[in-house]
Amino acid sequence: MSVVEKGKVCVTGAGGFLASWLVDLLLSKDYFVHGTVRDPDNEKYSHLKKLEKARDKLKLSKADLLDYASLQSAIAGCSGVFHVASPLPSSPLPNPEVEVMAPAVDGTLNVLKACVEANVKRVVYVSSAAALIMNPNWSKDQVIDEACWSDLEFCKRSGNWYRASKTLAESEAFKFAKRTGIDLVSICPTLVFGPVLQQHTVNASTLVLANLLKEGFESRENQVRFIVDVRDVAQALLLVYEKQESEGRYVCTAHNAREKDVVEKLKSLYPNYNYPKSYVEVEERAIMSSEKLQKLSWTFRPLEETLVDSIESYRKAKILDC
Ligand SMILES: NC(=O)c1ccc[n+]([C@@H]2O[C@H](COP(=O)([O-])OP(=O)(O)OC[C@H]3O[C@@H](n4cnc5c(N)ncnc54)[C@H](OP(=O)(O)O)[C@@H]3O)[C@@H](O)[C@H]2O)c1
Repeated sequence: MSVVEKGKVCVTGAGGFLASWLVDLLLSKDYFVHGTVRDPDNEKYSHLKKLEKARDKLKLSKADLLDYASLQSAIAGCSGVFHVASPLPSSPLPNPEVEVMAPAVDGTLNVLKACVEANVKRVVYVSSAAALIMNPNWSKDQVIDEACWSDLEFCKRSGNWYRASKTLAESEAFKFAKRTGIDLVSICPTLVFGPVLQQHTVNASTLVLANLLKEGFESRENQVRFIVDVRDVAQALLLVYEKQESEGRYVCTAHNAREKDVVEKLKSLYPNYNYPKSYVEVEERAIMSSEKLQKLSWTFRPLEETLVDSIESYRKAKILDC
């Protein structure tokens, strides 16, 4: 991309946890945002209409990832596209090939095809650390970076359909970009915590943190969690969109913390919740690095800020009550 064009950009799945923060950020930077949602009249998107500048600069339109014509009309006239929408189920689904794989993979290819047709200058695709970490051949002593890809068949064999979907979608996206020449950059976030803007839905990663405060688990594995703040991921998406030199994939992670340490921190801040009762130690994992993204000048906030802002927003949205 030669110059930053603050024209119209499209954000797919605009009402989701991450996309809502991205829309907010783009509006604050004076972009015109064309957000796609599946059901524009649904109350669950009401928070978007309340964002500053939304009245003048945000247009929502109905689009499903498997409905090419709907994507085509949402993307027409946009100079940039942030493809964020993808199914991220909180629990296993009965038919993952149809419910998870198809929207993630075919949906991404539909978005890219519509981008080529609309002559979009740059596409930023939200992939996931899920597309990197499921690689049994990667040595535990080797830092996981952009060179590492999850093993698709291994993901499927172990029933990790979400990880399979992100792995296949991202690799197919880069193959498509190579064939067509479209400028594609991907961001691979780890576990995303942070305050919620949406008030009527709870996404999967928010549920992970909320459950640590309310489920009272008897015992949990003391896994290393790779955590990043939703607002910092939104900043990363904008950064790679605007920086001319951005290319390829970017791991987006901020903190490596054992879950037990996260819980101890939460307990010291909010003692009166129903925390896990015990932890079982598990093997070390290879660590992940976002050095490439940091070289583009990406920075992130301290973990404590993320945790406090998350819990305060959960209280407001009554996520911890049920
Ligand atoms: N949260 C994390 O920890 C994390 C980590 C790494 C990567 N990611 C990636 O970040 C992105 C956003 O995740 P999130 O955490 O913000 O989850 P989210 O709140 O559940 O958002 C997912 C969005 O995808 C949309 N969507 C799903 N299937 C669709 C379809 N067939 N057609 C159109 N839209 C569809 C949903 O739209 P509706 O509003 O219509 O349901 C929703 O807006 C995803 O690509 C996910 O893989 C998330």
